[in-house]
Amino acid sequence: MKEIKVGLLGCGTVGTGVAKLLMENRDLIRARLGADLRLKYVADIDTKTDRGIRFDEGVFISDGRQVINDPDIDIVVEMIGGETIAKDFILQAIQNGKHVVTANKKLLAAQGNAIIKAAAAKGVDIGFEASVGGCMPIIKTMREALVGNRIQSMVGILNGTCNYILTQITDTGISFEEALAQAQANGFAEADPSLDVDGHDTAHKLAILMALAFGMEINLKDIYLEGITNITPMDIEFAGECGYRIKLLAISKMVGAALEARVHPAMIPVDNMLAHVNQSLNAVTVSGDAVGDILLYGRGAGMLPTASAVISDLVDIARNQLLGVRNRVPMLSYQNENIRPIPVRPIDQISTHYYFRFSAADHPGVLSKIAGVLGDCGISIQSVHQKGRKVKGAVPIVMLTHKAREADVRKALGIISSLEVIKDAPVLIRIEGGEDE
Ligand code: HSE
Repeated sequence: MKEIKVGLLGCGTVGTGVAKLLMENRDLIRARLGADLRLKYVADIDTKTDRGIRFDEGVFISDGRQVINDPDIDIVVEMIGGETIAKDFILQAIQNGKHVVTANKKLLAAQGNAIIKAAAAKGVDIGFEASVGGCMPIIKTMREALVGNRIQSMVGILNGTCNYILTQITDTGISFEEALAQAQANGFAEADPSLDVDGHDTAHKLAILMALAFGMEINLKDIYLEGITNITPMDIEFAGECGYRIKLLAISKMVGAALEARVHPAMIPVDNMLAHVNQSLNAVTVSGDAVGDILLYGRGAGMLPTASAVISDLVDIARNQLLGVRNRVPMLSYQNENIRPIPVRPIDQISTHYYFRFSAADHPGVLSKIAGVLGDCGISIQSVHQKGRKVKGAVPIVMLTHKAREADVRKALGIISSLEVIKDAPVLIRIEGGEDE
């Protein structure tokens, strides 16, 4: 039986999962592939820690260069992470004519265009299913299943850590810090928590999806970014009273000839399915002109779910290799000559519904002052809730708006903040997923 030889770089959580799955499900994969996907090397600087796997003699090594320089290796799986060594190894592996599979969304978001160009020049394939949404087959869905569709929008929950934190605060009322510590203990947070909670990880994933959906290069810098660190239990509670859940969303929509591209906490109506994606789970809704809406849902992180996505890439590449074809599916879903820049709207040009919370003095006329400024700025109020809960000598006033322009909202909040009756910075949370979206 034919053998496709795989070399794995990095044996951390996901790398270990890949090795386990390749070994434990070897017969199953062989039955589906018609060839043996043989793990020839697993390279990691730490060869001492027990991964719970019995490698054959000579498989577990400490030098990654042995993997990328071995002419016998067909596919290199990069599970090191980060942007330095991982990038050097990937580029060298490509130069050596090897196909590459990676889960490294940070590297792809920052330098994926160069990596993809290098791979195209060399005629090798890059698989990156595990870079977005863990086990959810969103890359394959975008690159293959939806090719007949003009993609109109994508809205996703793409960071398990943030979703876990927001779910814990919603369900148990614990603090942000306690919830973050729990997420880290459960092993799905990034080593640097700011990558998760400041929204960077979600933006990396959105940049990759936008390239696939719209036929553009990976463009991270134009994605508007807000994380979840300012979300308070009070806003989560008010959101619930108004019929919403708060989630960190990745949003990209084609509006006219330009894209919206943003990552920020958003209130979603409870009757939207994304509102029920809880704990560390991920989900993404994709809207296409033929399919309407589809929803993918699953584990966005973790050893075996992420390894499952890596194996899917390995088998795709191995199948091509067995047939003697390469680059059958374009890496960014479009043929290179059809990838073009698409303008991204600055955040002040978007229009959506808003939730505001003002901390205001409880005096006659305060509400009309706030409403007056909003009216002057062309913002129409949908509902007002004055809550009797005093915080630091002020009461919270919650307002939901009809669709408004972000530029007008920012202008209005600037004026309202400077009113003497306002005691704290106003809170703004965008509302998504309602009926007139
Ligand atoms: N830190 C990421 C998350 C891991 O929490 O979703 C998977 O990318």
